Amino acid sequence: MRIRARKAALNEAASPLLAVGLYRDESAPAALNGAADDALSDNDFSGKPDETALLYPKDAISAERLLLISLGDRASFTHEKLRRTAATVSRKARSLKLDEAAFTLPVPEGSDIEEAALAAAEGVALGLYRFTRHKTGSGEDARELEAFDLILDDPADEEAASHGAETGARLAAAALLARDLANEPSNVATPEYLAQTAREIAERHGMTITVLDRAGIETEGLTGLATVGRSAINEPRFIVLEHRKGGDAAPVVIVGKAVTFDSGGISIKPAGGMEDMKFDMGGGAAVLGVMETVGTLDLPINVVALVPSTENLPGGGAFKPGDVLEMHSGKTVEIISTDAEGRLILADALSYARRYEPSAVVDCATLTGACIVALGNHASGLMGNDEDLIAEVQTAGETAGERAWPLPLFDEYTEQIKGDTADIKNSARPAGALTAGAFLKEFADYPWAHLDIAGTAFGKKGNAYTPKGATGNPARTLVRFLMGRAENGEDA
Ligand code: BES
Ligand code: MN
Ligand code: ZN
Repeated sequence: MRIRARKAALNEAASPLLAVGLYRDESAPAALNGAADDALSDNDFSGKPDETALLYPKDAISAERLLLISLGDRASFTHEKLRRTAATVSRKARSLKLDEAAFTLPVPEGSDIEEAALAAAEGVALGLYRFTRHKTGSGEDARELEAFDLILDDPADEEAASHGAETGARLAAAALLARDLANEPSNVATPEYLAQTAREIAERHGMTITVLDRAGIETEGLTGLATVGRSAINEPRFIVLEHRKGGDAAPVVIVGKAVTFDSGGISIKPAGGMEDMKFDMGGGAAVLGVMETVGTLDLPINVVALVPSTENLPGGGAFKPGDVLEMHSGKTVEIISTDAEGRLILADALSYARRYEPSAVVDCATLTGACIVALGNHASGLMGNDEDLIAEVQTAGETAGERAWPLPLFDEYTEQIKGDTADIKNSARPAGALTAGAFLKEFADYPWAHLDIAGTAFGKKGNAYTPKGATGNPARTLVRFLMGRAENGEDA
């Protein structure tokens, strides 16, 4: 699908569908400059939130159809609302089985054309997403929109808008790859499947790739990963993907939990809803999506992606509650629950990251049900050991429309995970999201931030651009974060 930007007068924009957004204070006939007088009377469109009206004006305009869509109050119109509006327009065009659509680009107050075009392009690309790979005979339903035009007032804006739209499409591509990987069932998206995806990303963008198999993981001393993966027939993998375009500056390391299926192991989960645990690799999926976009944007920065990947299954060889592990860092961990497996594989990845002497490490993981209790599906939990880095990640998330909210890592939470038999234990209640964060903190001795995405990486249908299933969160947050670092030369 192509997203283009061009100047056109409202009545001259030729398209099978022209969408026009209206703020609450605008009267439709006036804003449309008479273009729809023959198709709309004063009260047909009142501008309620999310209201749309599809009109077939006879001769007044070049477009075959006119879609009015409300933008709400002018002062509270944001990039996030624009993303959702653009998604609604593109989905409406597809449901009408059109090949093309156009949308007069509304620019939020205080924003610029480039950022507005970026947000609109993200909304279009994310909104049209569907995961149909395993549906046979989808036929006519599989029709896709081919082109989406952002209509501008001023031809001088074309370059900035085109550039914004291009960047938006690439940001969206990170989330779309993450969605595709996470939506795949665990019999397809195995640790080796993720490794193969990483190899293809490396090949496309000239990155360095290292994949450790079970033997390599054991030799490297990644005990947490080796232990969680011990009873699975689909072998674990440790994926290391390096993008080196920032000279000899210290790299940023991004880490993603990739448990391709989390049954809980011996501390087995209840059957109801267990199918959702195919999404327990959402963090790793996002990290791979990010690297694909880091490659297409060719960001002038050094980035290392670490993706520990395994299944968590019960079996005769499985690890058990009460077991003690000596982790990659040398710390010992007492297993309270084999279902607290994510922090075990992440701890080893965080410890592995030390060799890069990173300027910052950000991990993302579908880590705790407790984080969903705290924040629901509307924000990721954000923790860490560096206030500036936490603020930087929070801002990146806000910009991306992927909210992350800071949660505390007080020393008392570290107290809670003190071990009886070993240094620390892998589970402690209450405050499960924070004791998990406190556990990870034990392995991070550099500026570090942690995103608990249990409530945001997948779910029921959210807004116009987040379908049921995988959301791709926090791929765009991390790309934005890295774009910020590349721009500020913090890494160069
Ligand atoms: N993958 C789960 C967390 C999760 C739960 C993600 C629901 C998404 C939706 C994680 O491995 C887990 O099982 N966490 C346990 C930890 C507990 C045993 C300390 C949890 O949250 O219950
Ligand atoms: Mn678990
Ligand atoms: Zn898990």
